[in-house]
Amino acid sequence: MDEHLISTINKLQDALAPLGGGSQSPIDLPQITVVGSQSSGKSSVLENIVGRDFLPRGTGIVTRRPLVLQLINRRAHGSNPSSNTTKTNDSAGSVTNELLDLDISDNSGEKKVENKKEIEHPHGQSEDNKEEWGEFLHIPGKKFYNFDEIRQEIVRETDKVTGANSGISSVPINLRIYSPHVLTLTLVDLPGLTKVPVGDQPVDIEKQIKDMLLKYISKPNAIILSVNAANTDLANSDGLKLAREVDPEGTRTIGVLTKVDLMDQGTDVIDILAGRVIPLRYGYIPVINRGQKDIEHKKTIRDALKDEKEFFESHSSYSSKAQYCGTPYLAKKLNSILLHHIRQTLPDIKGKIEATLKKFQQELMNLGPETMDSASSVVLSMITDFSNEYNGILDGEAKEISSQEL
Ligand code: GDP
Ligand code: NA
Ligand code: MG
Repeated sequence: MDEHLISTINKLQDALAPLGGGSQSPIDLPQITVVGSQSSGKSSVLENIVGRDFLPRGTGIVTRRPLVLQLINRRAHGSNPSSNTTKTNDSAGSVTNELLDLDISDNSGEKKVENKKEIEHPHGQSEDNKEEWGEFLHIPGKKFYNFDEIRQEIVRETDKVTGANSGISSVPINLRIYSPHVLTLTLVDLPGLTKVPVGDQPVDIEKQIKDMLLKYISKPNAIILSVNAANTDLANSDGLKLAREVDPEGTRTIGVLTKVDLMDQGTDVIDILAGRVIPLRYGYIPVINRGQKDIEHKKTIRDALKDEKEFFESHSSYSSKAQYCGTPYLAKKLNSILLHHIRQTLPDIKGKIEATLKKFQQELMNLGPETMDSASSVVLSMITDFSNEYNGILDGEAKEISSQEL
């Protein structure tokens, strides 16, 4: 049920993309948007959640177009015939899920992933694994099994639109990752906030990036993942400032504190976690990603997650709350926030879908059948399908609620 809900939202995102999806989308879809300063660790956080190396990373402004990243747990959608019995001790199990002992369904009971075991883990190494792949919306039908090629395609597609210089574009790249080892989530990676133009960047680059981020995070349906390096002052965080501009109560912002391993000896993020610095309703989650050296030495995500767990469990400041620290907890929390948010916004989304549907039907009618462009008719039928499916979900939700009341 929950997985179905998110997968339906994902379908709508695709259906609306030809109409100028992403920030121009006529319907605000619930999704998690990542904001923070350049090099705060945004891409690293996303990669750890996915459990694979696939994002262009570097010290400069690497993310120059929004990346709408749909993670799809394909076991939960029945693509795998042995769905409910699939064990996680297969060759490519996600460490994130292993550590979580994950309950994907968010309703106790069904679809619980079987308990953890030590696994052989090829993250960032194996390329012939056929159970995880990526697909770009701009290259329909092509499955990318090699995650290095996914990274190359993101770079190519970025350069195609922005030029190989350091310009930015608000036109999103849409990527889906299918895997039995991810939580179903929609994440949007956005360019990092920067102050100083580099290379042949326009002088107003700071404003351009800020405007683009605002476009995404000001929507009431956006959940803001505010990424801040723990070794910088939270009060000066540009990402958090921006988040507070559009979400002053902090009701749809979740904080992530990266680089906890780089903090000065004797300092910690306990005050921030306790809400004594800048409180957020969803709080903050401290994580540790791979440092530049780790990446150069090809440290795997598996090892990074192991070390992260070890760090929090053995650190005197965090050991008593280690279960609320680290990437696996972040992934789990994001999934449940997203579901909660989707449920709350369902009635509003439904109304907007119906209005959009009507508008398109009217437009097509005005054009007349002979001039009807085939692309519009595809979009129309997708929206119709979606709308029907959505009504089914709403009925289901209503039934669920009424049966709870009985
Ligand atoms: P982005 O620009 O916000 O996407 O940041 P990246 O994910 O590209 O990270 C920027 C740099 O910081 C890279 O060299 C990462 O290896 C490093 N980094 C990110 N997170 C951490 C962390 O938690 N600990 C350490 N030691 N380094 C990190
Ligand atoms: Na960067
Ligand atoms: Mg980045």
